Amino acid sequence: MKIGLIGVGTIGGFLAEKIEADPSLELCFVLDTDPEKVKGFPKETVINSIDKMPSVDLVVEAASQQAVGQYAEAVLSKTDFLILSVGALAEQVLEDKIAGLCREHGTKLFVPSGAIAGIDMLKAMQSELKSVGIVSRKNPKGFGRDDSKLTVLFEGSAREACKKFPANINIAATISLNGIGFDKTSVKIISDSKCAGNRHFLHLVHSFGEMQLDVRALPSKNPKTSSTAAYSAFDLIKKIQGGVNIY
Ligand SMILES: NC(=O)c1ccc[n+]([C@@H]2O[C@H](COP(=O)([O-])OP(=O)(O)OC[C@H]3O[C@@H](n4cnc5c(N)ncnc54)[C@H](O)[C@@H]3O)[C@@H](O)[C@H]2O)c1
Repeated sequence: MKIGLIGVGTIGGFLAEKIEADPSLELCFVLDTDPEKVKGFPKETVINSIDKMPSVDLVVEAASQQAVGQYAEAVLSKTDFLILSVGALAEQVLEDKIAGLCREHGTKLFVPSGAIAGIDMLKAMQSELKSVGIVSRKNPKGFGRDDSKLTVLFEGSAREACKKFPANINIAATISLNGIGFDKTSVKIISDSKCAGNRHFLHLVHSFGEMQLDVRALPSKNPKTSSTAAYSAFDLIKKIQGGVNIY
């Protein structure tokens, strides 16, 4: 399977290594606004504009919310798109535009579970959900802060959270898309110096019961980003490629 990568920072760098180590995958291009990040890649794979994108089976975005909007049309008019910066879809206009592009061109948008789990049950119970809430804690470093005591940074809807914390709460978007939507999903964001890494507590109530899920992970090289998100993205690439899947 031929793959292109937009953003080769923490997650993109990990994915590039995994793709290059897998003989059934081919890394056809990398695109990053930071020239330092693409230095180690073969010259012929580095592009500086999406207009120069070669034909691929899948483009993976691991860059920023802004990048999703910037590249969606160029990518989805040609091929499938897997995005990590899911919070971009909190902009209703962009979500609608992407849905339109997929319909028009017969392409697909893929969203990995990322730094959260439990998406299977959330999605299965979508029509029966009564409430969905997430409490997300990170070490202050993850917010570029140095709080010495527990500080609640945000309480509100997932839509507002994704806009206010574009690099920190993509899981709220993933949960919203698979659950009761951006406006009804409640989010609390806490800066906690006692938290070594990132901790996400998901609580959902449905007609027949409830689910509570406590996910803890060390951050990656990027203190905003859970180490598990990159693994989840590679797992989804392999699922898209096909083979044996357990659902
Ligand atoms: N879905 C999830 O659960 C989840 C979890 C963690 C991180 N993320 C998101 O994934 C994205 C990547 O995270 P990361 O830790 O690898 O970030 P990072 O900062 O380590 O790397 C991002 C790279 O993308 C490049 N970039 C930024 N904007 C660009 C643009 N418009 N065009 C091309 N390149 C651009 C940067 O130069 C950088 O090299 C972030 O948006 C992050 O919020 C999602």
